[in-house]
Amino acid sequence: MNKLKLLGPFSQLLTMEELPAKGPVSDEQLQIISNAGILVNGEFIEAVGSYRELKSLTPVTEDTGGIYTVMPGLIDVHSHICWAGSRAGDYARRLSGWSYLQIAEEGGGIWYTVTKTRQASEEMLVQITAAHAEIMLMEGVTTIEVKSGYGLNKESELKMLKAISIASEFTSADLIPTCLAAHIKPGDFEGTAMEYLVYIINEILPSVKSENLARRVDIYIDKGAFNEEEGRYFMKAARDMNFELSVHADQFNIGGLNLAVEFGALSADHLEATTDEGIRMIAASNVAPVALPGASIGLGTGFAPARKLLNQGTTLVIGSDWNPGSAPMGKLLLQASILGVYEKLTMAETLAAITCRAAPVLGLSDRGIIKPGMMADFIAFPCSDYREIIYSQGAIPVAEVWKRGRRVRNKE
Ligand code: NIG
Ligand code: FE
Repeated sequence: MNKLKLLGPFSQLLTMEELPAKGPVSDEQLQIISNAGILVNGEFIEAVGSYRELKSLTPVTEDTGGIYTVMPGLIDVHSHICWAGSRAGDYARRLSGWSYLQIAEEGGGIWYTVTKTRQASEEMLVQITAAHAEIMLMEGVTTIEVKSGYGLNKESELKMLKAISIASEFTSADLIPTCLAAHIKPGDFEGTAMEYLVYIINEILPSVKSENLARRVDIYIDKGAFNEEEGRYFMKAARDMNFELSVHADQFNIGGLNLAVEFGALSADHLEATTDEGIRMIAASNVAPVALPGASIGLGTGFAPARKLLNQGTTLVIGSDWNPGSAPMGKLLLQASILGVYEKLTMAETLAAITCRAAPVLGLSDRGIIKPGMMADFIAFPCSDYREIIYSQGAIPVAEVWKRGRRVRNKE
């Protein structure tokens, strides 16, 4: 059977190819192909170009063209979509003036979700995670990082990571798991925060490794979570175990970004509290800053200094942080568009932050760009000008989604 199929013609195709890996990007730098076609070979892209030219080279056609703008499938580098229980009560308290930390100190916050997630069966978590992933996939997100972090003991952290792994069999989206056992010290742990981190290193991470449940770890550095000294111990030990590192850094208070730089983490995520000094520090490293506008919107606080981060020459990436507490919305494209208008990001910068600049944060080099050899992950919006995508602030629904060469969302 011939695995080749030609898709198109599409009004516009945004390849996201040949953009600088770091620093500002102008819209003029976007490579746009009009009346474009994509030749797909199984799960991969074989050729990209003028539909007419591609058609003259191959007799195989699948008629899916139309007034569409096509771009790479979106990549969400930061989510917590495996959870049980609602935090609507937390949200209501925040609206009446409580802070995130106050709510946590009163038994709400992350610990509340931990108690609900521990009670949930693995099957239940599989269903919830797959359902969240399907919502994201239908919105064009074809690769999703998913953190544990609501188990916070060996049994429940492994249950979460197994649920994430099984959930990936129920969605076409690729789920990339991260162990966030170092989210907070759980309320029932008898010992210091440092002793809890030692427990993670000695008891949880060896099983994560031997059962091949995640190749990445994350730690939350802030008041109410872990401090710098604790973070340094944990990151060194996790790095020595060959885990890839990411950090919840500088969210409410400065802390964590320096550790991300010190240990060569793939990313430092949040950065709402980051100062000019922090921006200079990360700009002098290869750590990618990840802005999480969903947490700013969910908490009603300021955004990460995305414009300054780009101007200083970093590669700005944007994630959804979808979680039941600080970022209950999901909706990566909407959030990225909102960050863009407040931070004055060009459309190219916003789109790069959720495609080509996002893939390396997950250690992936086979997606985020539409070019030969890449995974055939792409999405089509019902418009003939790519600018409509950001202009509509995420409100134009994705019409079609292809994942690994297979159409998983169809306009009908
Ligand atoms: O990225 N800040 C720490 N962790 C999550 C929130 C998790 C939660 O509130 O359940 C975040 O914002
Ligand atoms: Fe987060």
